[in-house]
Amino acid sequence: MTMAIEAWYVEESGEDKKLLSLSKLKELGVLYWRLNPKNYENDEELRNIRESRGYNYVDILDICPEKLENYEEKVKNFYTEHIHANEEIRYCLEGSGYFDVRDKDDRWVRIWMKEGDMIALPSGIYHRLALDTGKYLKLMRLFVDEPVWTPFNRPQEEHPARKAYVNSLVPLEAH
Ligand code: LAC
Ligand code: NI
Repeated sequence: MTMAIEAWYVEESGEDKKLLSLSKLKELGVLYWRLNPKNYENDEELRNIRESRGYNYVDILDICPEKLENYEEKVKNFYTEHIHANEEIRYCLEGSGYFDVRDKDDRWVRIWMKEGDMIALPSGIYHRLALDTGKYLKLMRLFVDEPVWTPFNRPQEEHPARKAYVNSLVPLEAH
């Protein structure tokens, strides 16, 4: 088991895929933690993250045909490129899958989430989710206050969350 989350460009997947450094995720505003998934009900580290970031809401989503209502439709929607008006925070408790996010040059960066990986995608970042060959993901979803899961499918260039995100990426220049 590798110690750090793995990410690469989707168009390079296969034999010539190069792993991206974690600073790539940071650059895009994606936060990442590695926790102990066996201990999620009693984990002090998780409690600290929740407290410091205000993640007072949690629930658990099982993504597999037996446990998820309207599985086909939901999986299709998860894979449709979208943004949200809020952060998307996911903690992988079991299974694995791909969270894809667009980088500054509009290339897909694939983040391979495995047991113990937790990520927070900033509001306004284009993203999608795919299962991998294991076809199973058990995710904890976290949120600040009342959850809103509404996806806004691309294009969303006029959405306030999109505009704020794009502005947050512009490097500060001296004029
Ligand atoms: C969501 C993920 C799949 O919006 O992006 O739930
Ligand atoms: Ni989403």
